[in-house]
Amino acid sequence: MENAKLILNGKEYELPVVVGSEDEVGVDISTFRAKSGAITLDDGYGNTGSCKSAITFIDGEKGILRYRGYPIEELAENASFVEVCYLLIYGKLPNQAELAAFDHQLTRHSLIHEDMKKFFEGFPSSAHPMAILSAMIASLSAYYPDENNVDLNIIRLLSKARTIAAFSYKKSVGQPFVYPLNDLGYCENFLHMLFAVPAEPYKISPTLTKALNLLLILHADHEQNCSTSTVRMVGSSQANLFASISAGVCALWGPLHGGANQEVIEMLEHIRADGGDYKKYMEMAKDKSSSFKLMGFGHRVYKNFDPRAKILKKAADAVLAELGVADPTLAIAKNLEDVALNDPYFVDRKLYPNVDFYSGIIYRAMNIPTDMFTVMFALGRLPGWIAQWKEMHDDKSARINRPRQIYIGAPKREWVPVNKRA
Ligand code: ACO
Repeated sequence: MENAKLILNGKEYELPVVVGSEDEVGVDISTFRAKSGAITLDDGYGNTGSCKSAITFIDGEKGILRYRGYPIEELAENASFVEVCYLLIYGKLPNQAELAAFDHQLTRHSLIHEDMKKFFEGFPSSAHPMAILSAMIASLSAYYPDENNVDLNIIRLLSKARTIAAFSYKKSVGQPFVYPLNDLGYCENFLHMLFAVPAEPYKISPTLTKALNLLLILHADHEQNCSTSTVRMVGSSQANLFASISAGVCALWGPLHGGANQEVIEMLEHIRADGGDYKKYMEMAKDKSSSFKLMGFGHRVYKNFDPRAKILKKAADAVLAELGVADPTLAIAKNLEDVALNDPYFVDRKLYPNVDFYSGIIYRAMNIPTDMFTVMFALGRLPGWIAQWKEMHDDKSARINRPRQIYIGAPKREWVPVNKRA
C-alpha cells in the first residue's frame, strides 16, 4: 500500500501506512511531529491506535470478536475459561499436557498469604469489593517482589485474584473466609469460596459452573479498551505486573466501563419499582436535557451489535429457566431492547445492547450480589490484561506511553504578590 500524504501549511509529508492481518489500515504518525512540529489530536482516542497487537481482533461494524483468531462464539460454546486464559496469554490453545500443567499450577497457587487476611480486617464492611480487589492485587507485589519469574507471577495473579474476590464478598456479608479446595476446577472453586459456609458446604451446580465459565470467557479480552489501555499505560513505565493490573481494575470500576453491569441492574430495578413504564425511560434516555442514559447500551467500537450481548441474551433465558428463577427485570430489559432497536434515536446512533446489558441478570440469578458484578468482570478480564501486559513486556522495542496535548490555558503571565491580587 502507498504511503499516506498529509499537507500542512502547504508542505506535503509522507507517512507510512501499516496494514494488519485483517486488512485494518493505520497511518503511522509517530514521526510526524519531528518532521512538522505538529501533533495529531484525537480526544478520547476514538481514532488512535496505541499499539500493534496479536491478541484480539474486533470488527465493530460486522460485530466480530476473536481471541487469537478464534471466534468468540466457538470459544463460548466449547472452551473452558482456563483454556482461554492460556490461549490469550500464550497465543495458542494448550494441548492436553499443557492444559493439565497450567490447571495444576492454578490450583497450587490459590492461597493468599495468611498475613494478607489482616488487610481485610482494616476495610469497613461497607467497602466496595472493587476497592478491596485493586488494593489487594497491588499488594501482591509486596509478597512476590521477584519480577523475573513472569510466568509464575501470572499464575499467582490468576489464581489469587479469585481468592481475593471471594474473600472480599465474605467480608461484605460478615461471614468467615472459605479456603480454596484443590480438587475443584477454577470456576467451581470460586463458587465454593463464595457460597460455602461452615455449617453447609457448597453443592456443586453444573448450571452455575457453566454460566460462570461462559461469563468469564465473554469478558476475557477486548483489545485496547479503557482498562486494558490503562494496564498498558502503567506497564509501559516498566511497573510490575501486579501494579499494572491493579490500575486496570480501577479503570474498569467506572460506570462508563465495567461498572455499567451494576448500573444496569440498578436501572432495571429502578424502572420496575417505578411501575415498569420502560417507555418513559426510553424517552428520558433520548432527552438531552436529562442526565439519564440507557446503561448497558452503546459502545465505542461496536456499531452493529456486540456479539457478547447476543450470546448473553440467550444464556440469560437458559440460566434463569434452569435455575427456576423468574426475574421481572429480564422482561423489562428485553422490552427496552425491542423499543431501542426500532427507535430512530438509537438506530441512527447505532446504539445496541453491550456485554453489560444482560450479564447482571445472570449474575443475580446466580445469587451474586450487585456490588460484586464489576469484580466478576475483572476476574474475567484478568487474562486479557495479563496477555496485553505480557505482549508489551516481551517487546523489547516498546517505549514508555506518553501522549502529547494541545495547551489551551493562559499564555505567559507575570507573578503578582498576594497583597496586589484582585
Ligand atoms: N443512552 C442514550 N444515549 C446514548 C447512550 C446511551 N447509553 N450511549 C450513547 N448515546 C448517545 C450519545 O448521547 C451521543 O448522542 P449525540 O450524538 O446526539 O451527542 C451518541 O449516542 C454517541 O455516543 P458517545 O457518548 O459519543 O459514544 P462514546 O463512544 O463516547 O461512548 C459509551 C460509548 C461510553 C459506551 C456510551 O455509549 C455509554 O455511556 N453507554 C452507557 C454505559 C455503558 O453501558 N458502558 C459499558 C460499555 S461496554 C464496556 O465497557 C464493557
